[in-house]
Amino acid sequence: MNFLVVGGAGYIGSHMVKQLRRAGHELVVADNFSTGYRSALMGATLVELDIADAQALDRLFAAHAFDAVFHFASFIQVGESVSEPAKYYQNNLAATLTLLQAMIRADVKRFIFSSTAAVYGDPVYVPIDEDHPKAAINPYGRSKWMVEQMLEDFDRAYGLKSVCLRYFNAAGADPDGELGERHEPETHLLPLILQAASGRRESITIYGRDYDTPDGTCIRDYVHVSDLVAAHALAVDYLLDDGESTAFNLGNGQGFSVQQVIDTARRVTGKEIRVSEAPRRAGDPPRLVADPTRAQAILGWRAQFASLEQIVRHAWAWEQKHPWQ
Ligand code: UFG
Repeated sequence: MNFLVVGGAGYIGSHMVKQLRRAGHELVVADNFSTGYRSALMGATLVELDIADAQALDRLFAAHAFDAVFHFASFIQVGESVSEPAKYYQNNLAATLTLLQAMIRADVKRFIFSSTAAVYGDPVYVPIDEDHPKAAINPYGRSKWMVEQMLEDFDRAYGLKSVCLRYFNAAGADPDGELGERHEPETHLLPLILQAASGRRESITIYGRDYDTPDGTCIRDYVHVSDLVAAHALAVDYLLDDGESTAFNLGNGQGFSVQQVIDTARRVTGKEIRVSEAPRRAGDPPRLVADPTRAQAILGWRAQFASLEQIVRHAWAWEQKHPWQ
């Protein structure tokens, strides 16, 4: 097959590119390097463009006969989306519309979309299944939900088939140690903990110890990046098999608290990890845990690296390498 991977130089996109190439597919990466890294491409074919550029997209689609498009290119910081909503609606929503319009002009009708558990907002029940009410509480989550709704309309009107994959907390790194998480600035819990373990950072700050959870810290469902991209590969097979447009939660169905992640990191790294405490971060729900039954039943998705230890071990190997220094 021949695929377009938009945002293939980013954290999850680069793992996808590696897995698709290993499976023998042809692909082109489109990236504007606003947050991605050239080194993450490992020799994959690259077209440097911004998906807001309709003409560049038309040239790209004219030059290749893509069977499907994977779309990983979006801004992901919840806090920033509150202070700079226009940036999020411009890139995550408007530029995605431009990409979809170019696909329709080129008659490319299969789309795998990186969505998020943030579409659900504050959960009214956990574990969260796909039918849980959608009530995003920040512009980031709203931008993703708006795209999901747009995709439903585009299927009805233009026959564009899509799978929306709602990630819970992506974590971990390529088991071969070639790729990993690298955000500037880093805001995610596990890489920050591991930077504290390696000495790149003084300490890790726990945002809130007064949640209604067993140890008072927030609970999240951490899912290995390799398992996430494996689900994308299954999702594209599903569409190639004439599957209907749909959405799946991607998580392990098991929650770990911030304190448990720190304890696991202490065990895995053997390092003392200094902790400081701060008040709650705005907009953090106490508990986000996926019900992944649907992805398991329909896609046959099974996590290979479901244990938190394994996730931390791979992320730690990557942190110790920190090849960017
Ligand atoms: N946390 C800390 N200290 C830190 C960083 C995070 O205590 O320095 C806590 C947060 O308060 C939260 C948990 O660790 O309880 C996880 O935080 P992350 O920032 O790693 O991840 P989030 O759950 O906030 O966000 C993730 C994705 C978002 C997505 C969201 C909801 O990164 O893109 O899940 O699906 F919107």
